Amino acid sequence: MYDLLLRQCRLLQTDRTIAEVDIAIKERVIVDIAPKITGNTKLELDIQGKLVSPPFVESHIHLDSALTAGEPRWNQSGTLFEGIEIWRERKQNISLEDVKQRAIATLKQQATQGVLFVRSHADVSETSLTALQALLEVRQEVKDWITLQVVAFPQDGIYSEPQNDLLLEKALDMGADAVGGIPHYELTREDGVKSVHRIFELAQKYDRLVDIHCDEIDDDQSRFLEVVAACASRTGLGSRVTASHTTAFGSYNNAYAGKLLGFLRRTQINFIANPLINITLQGRTDTYPKRRGVTRVKELWQQGANVSFGHDCIQDPWYSLGTGNMLDVAFMGLHVCQMTGTAEIDACYDMVTWNGAKTLNVEDRYGIEIGKPSNLIVLNACDRYDAIRRRAIVEYVISQGKLLVKTEIPRTIWHGSCS
Ligand code: FE2
Repeated sequence: MYDLLLRQCRLLQTDRTIAEVDIAIKERVIVDIAPKITGNTKLELDIQGKLVSPPFVESHIHLDSALTAGEPRWNQSGTLFEGIEIWRERKQNISLEDVKQRAIATLKQQATQGVLFVRSHADVSETSLTALQALLEVRQEVKDWITLQVVAFPQDGIYSEPQNDLLLEKALDMGADAVGGIPHYELTREDGVKSVHRIFELAQKYDRLVDIHCDEIDDDQSRFLEVVAACASRTGLGSRVTASHTTAFGSYNNAYAGKLLGFLRRTQINFIANPLINITLQGRTDTYPKRRGVTRVKELWQQGANVSFGHDCIQDPWYSLGTGNMLDVAFMGLHVCQMTGTAEIDACYDMVTWNGAKTLNVEDRYGIEIGKPSNLIVLNACDRYDAIRRRAIVEYVISQGKLLVKTEIPRTIWHGSCS
């Protein structure tokens, strides 16, 4: 007796080919995938030839600041730095319940749209570590329907205040999954370099992943990515390391960028671009031509680096828009990075699915294969291109073998004349 049987699936397989199959689930595990499965089941869903995909992966978001746009004031300049100032004011009165309630509301919004794996940064620059504690509690409370990773993120820098270094280490002691940083926001370049070394030291001491906000600035002299790459190579941490944003990479001169790409080819580090937010945050001091403010996604992808796309913010001091829809993210990334070739469009879909799973180091439990945990989504689309082009609705979300969400497809009736 199966728990769930999905009939007539158009399955997007791990090798990215499509197979027309049934999928059987028992005790939270995918137990069979075949053209026609017989046997009894507790629940059967007719998928009607729609696209069945592994769930979306949100590899970079700040759940602690989500849903606070306008509190206490709107970011009128639209810059990263006004955002940091506003958040510094807002976080004076965060509470455990405030953060938890907004984080869970955001996670529900994401799961409704097919996101079942999330990496969130938690600001650990305030002495009570309320945001971190809240997200660690949320991680536990939601674990039956969504996987949440928490990064200890020193938003104000590790060396800007004497206690910040200790707070970061305490956050790892409390159970953060990854150690973060913001070297371009440290007071000096030397502090920035020192902060990267400290992050790697802590990652090794506590055996944690690394995810650094790196060079999120238009300054073409912001060059901490090379430090991250060097540390990743020397420590052997490789694919356990992620460089987020790296927007300055889009401003480097080509001679330096070419050299850096060569260095990066020798590491296994992951990259996360956040096109929705960086296309609006960056370039604010430019006149014209105005830069795009996103890292060199296409070039990194072309040389085989693992690149994923993140949403970064949903209605917070840095970005007042957003719904958590990863197809919006892929759609914007495709435009900003000029990835309009057929393989490039498909790659943009992979950047919100498989590549994100690799970044989160959850590949062993990701993908629709016999023996893997049964997490999948059904899209009202026929392939990856169709899903992105129409930002297709996720009709069903199956999480850990259970139907978590069903969304009705809106029906439009044409009342005009045919001519
Ligand atoms: Fe971020």
